[in-house]
Amino acid sequence: MKILVLEGPNLNMVGIREIETYGGISSSDQKSSIDIWAKSKGNSLTFKNISEEGSIVDCINDSAGSFEALIINPGALSHSSFSIRDALKGLAIPVVEVHLSAVHSRNESWRKQLITADAGQPVISGFGFEGYKMAIRFLTDS
Ligand code: DQA
Repeated sequence: MKILVLEGPNLNMVGIREIETYGGISSSDQKSSIDIWAKSKGNSLTFKNISEEGSIVDCINDSAGSFEALIINPGALSHSSFSIRDALKGLAIPVVEVHLSAVHSRNESWRKQLITADAGQPVISGFGFEGYKMAIRFLTDS
């Protein structure tokens, strides 16, 4: 399956930022091992990291033309972006939302609400980068 893995702001900083929450292994190292694993199962992953909200919306809207599924971690925009929520709601390909951390049990009250998840896609939260693999397994039924 051809899958787009789209990450929002600050997720490129994993490995450096808030190590106690996101771990000390760099995002690029984590993603290259997921890529190898996904390829071994016959899937093709494209990773994009976009910080700007409008560009994320454009990327979601364009994704249906080139990909069979979308895995999205919108980062902090998950808690505020109605436009990302609306783009996901209208998307013609399956979507899984992934959060590395367990957003519902973190300290900040605003972090517990996922505006983007209101679009109805399944959400995986709290499994670190394993969450991306779980999403791929779900999407590919393997
Ligand atoms: C995150 C959770 C968000 O609350 C946070 O702003 C992030 C990362 C996660 O993957 O756990 O940037 O989406």
